Amino acid sequence: MAVVAVDANLGFSRPDEVIDDVDDRGLKRAITRPIDEPFSRQFEYRRCQVRDWSAPGQPPLNFRTMGFESISLARSDSLQNLLAQIRQAGEITVPQARQLRRLLNGRVFPLSRGRCLKMLHVAPEGLIMRKGGPNGLKVDPDTEMGEMNGHDVALAIHGDQDVRGTPLKQMMRGFAPWMFRHQTPDGSNRISPLVLVNLWIPLQQVTRPLTLMDRRTLNAREHQLRYALPTDTFLDRSEDMRENDIWSFLHDEAQQWYFHSHMAHDQAYIFDTLGEPHGSFILPGEDVAERYYLQLQMLRKQLKSGGDIERPLAETVNLPADTTEPLRQAIESMARLIATVPVDKVGKPVVDVWLARATEAMDAVVRKSLEMRVVALLLPNFWPFNRSAGN
Ligand SMILES: [Fe+2]
Repeated sequence: MAVVAVDANLGFSRPDEVIDDVDDRGLKRAITRPIDEPFSRQFEYRRCQVRDWSAPGQPPLNFRTMGFESISLARSDSLQNLLAQIRQAGEITVPQARQLRRLLNGRVFPLSRGRCLKMLHVAPEGLIMRKGGPNGLKVDPDTEMGEMNGHDVALAIHGDQDVRGTPLKQMMRGFAPWMFRHQTPDGSNRISPLVLVNLWIPLQQVTRPLTLMDRRTLNAREHQLRYALPTDTFLDRSEDMRENDIWSFLHDEAQQWYFHSHMAHDQAYIFDTLGEPHGSFILPGEDVAERYYLQLQMLRKQLKSGGDIERPLAETVNLPADTTEPLRQAIESMARLIATVPVDKVGKPVVDVWLARATEAMDAVVRKSLEMRVVALLLPNFWPFNRSAGN
């Protein structure tokens, strides 16, 4: 039976890390601790119900009210080919990033309730690819974080940008709150059709999916906190722009969270960069996926080195009842490979086939995603507003 919701840990700011903000905006702030402090110093995991919005009976998503929505990317073959290449390579190159921007700039995507989103400009900064292994496993521990690649999956729930904060304040000389539609604890702009959105493309997310909050269930005055994010490790910026002003959140029972259990890159999220709460989480069953991933990794090493193979004891795959179907299938194919590792003397072709399959099965449980910032217009979905540039 399809899983409708899962219980999972989401990372929130710890209440004892909250202080009154020094600016006279009357807001609260979460303290920024040095980057090498343990996660648990600043954040706490809270058990939340996360609903699969693709399950029957769930309400349709709505960017304007909920803060996020999905769009279809399926209509562009060149875009789909490019995304498939990036997914397979596990990283994005500069020419690919350029091509991606070119394919998106000027495009129009239908939204719910008779609206559409016209992408005016994909920002050059902030296009990043994230990768993370099952259950928090680091899949390439030696890769360095660069501007676009080498980013791990986001652990804590956050909102990406304060409309009155760095770097938007400097880039737009303080005009951002007037120009962009936004909802911020100390003010909102619900009139402007101009939006700053994140375009979030799941290259694969059988594990560690993105979750987003229905923003109508957020008590922003109480639970939305200013937070200064140091950017030195991946961006080269001037002194006054070293820290991004983003948002952090406190947990509350009333908040409602959504994810999608089998989203691929024919679909993407758009969500409000200026405060929509989001983050990744670990699905029930990912600990089993991690164990099988590590076993396959070990077997692969032993086969490649030509040494003796220690076949792990055969075990039945025991998964929690709310394991999503794609994760269950991915774990079962890893288990099958472990059970059929060529232990006896067999020819090289047999070993090579097994190795290729093992690599593929391990890669399937690695979360890969692309995200970028887009300046866009929210328009009525009829001609001439919904005309793509160049069409
Ligand atoms: Fe984010």
